[in-house]
Amino acid sequence: MDNNSDQRELTVHIWRSEASASDDDLQPDGAWQTWEVPVRNSQTVLDVVTWIQRHRDPDLSYRYACRVGMCGTCAMTVQGKPRWTCRTRIGTVVDGNELTIAPLRNLPIIKDLATDMAPFFDKWAEAGAQFVPDRNVDQQTMAPVKPDSRARRTADVAIECIGCAVCYAACDTVAWRADYLGPAALNRVWTLVNDEREASPKEHLKAVAGESGCLSCHSHQSCAELCPKHLNPTASIAGLKRKSFLLALAGRS
Ligand code: SF4
Ligand code: SF4
Ligand code: FES
Repeated sequence: MDNNSDQRELTVHIWRSEASASDDDLQPDGAWQTWEVPVRNSQTVLDVVTWIQRHRDPDLSYRYACRVGMCGTCAMTVQGKPRWTCRTRIGTVVDGNELTIAPLRNLPIIKDLATDMAPFFDKWAEAGAQFVPDRNVDQQTMAPVKPDSRARRTADVAIECIGCAVCYAACDTVAWRADYLGPAALNRVWTLVNDEREASPKEHLKAVAGESGCLSCHSHQSCAELCPKHLNPTASIAGLKRKSFLLALAGRS
């Protein structure tokens, strides 16, 4: 017995896909496979998956990079909810002796626990979620942004996104509407709308004002409840709705 482990074992059920995603079937059939995994001190869900891959089945596919909550690559469905796995300790999600781990929903499965993140980041591009500098401002001069200004503080609370797609997997509107931009892309646009260095915040607003943008959010907050960085995309999207409405009103007068 490893000095770092106690006597207990965890019963772990992992979803194994039978095929990769296709255009018709993003999440193809698969089956649960079960292993007994030794419990260790401070063990994370990612530690469990890695132990199985190293000691029981080298064919098990999953993805991670930093292991410290920075890169956003390790998210999976844990006990039925999307979570980052490198910072989720099993003691916080296991009640009893069973752990279930599946791929993120709303994204195509590549194999087993690895999903294709391309559709998630494509939505950021569709939302126009890139910073556009104001060319009228001298680019060599540091922009005069006051850290305590209202706009800066509004942007700051939404800015620490790591692109993990937990919110995207949690969102029922993403599941219902293939064209919905989703919480992370809209949250990013909200930071740009409030960025005083941006050339055209109004263009960003217009890009997300329609049915595939902020109007389709039902504000049920799954994204905010599960975001591992404790961001609140629901609040950001509410801000986009408010400003889009004001922009539309101004356009009529
Ligand atoms: S609040 Fe909006 S973006 Fe967040 S999960 Fe609900 S519908 Fe999706
Ligand atoms: S908003 Fe939160 S849950 Fe969504 S991608 Fe960013 S860090 Fe992940
Ligand atoms: S492995 Fe980088 S956030 Fe989990």
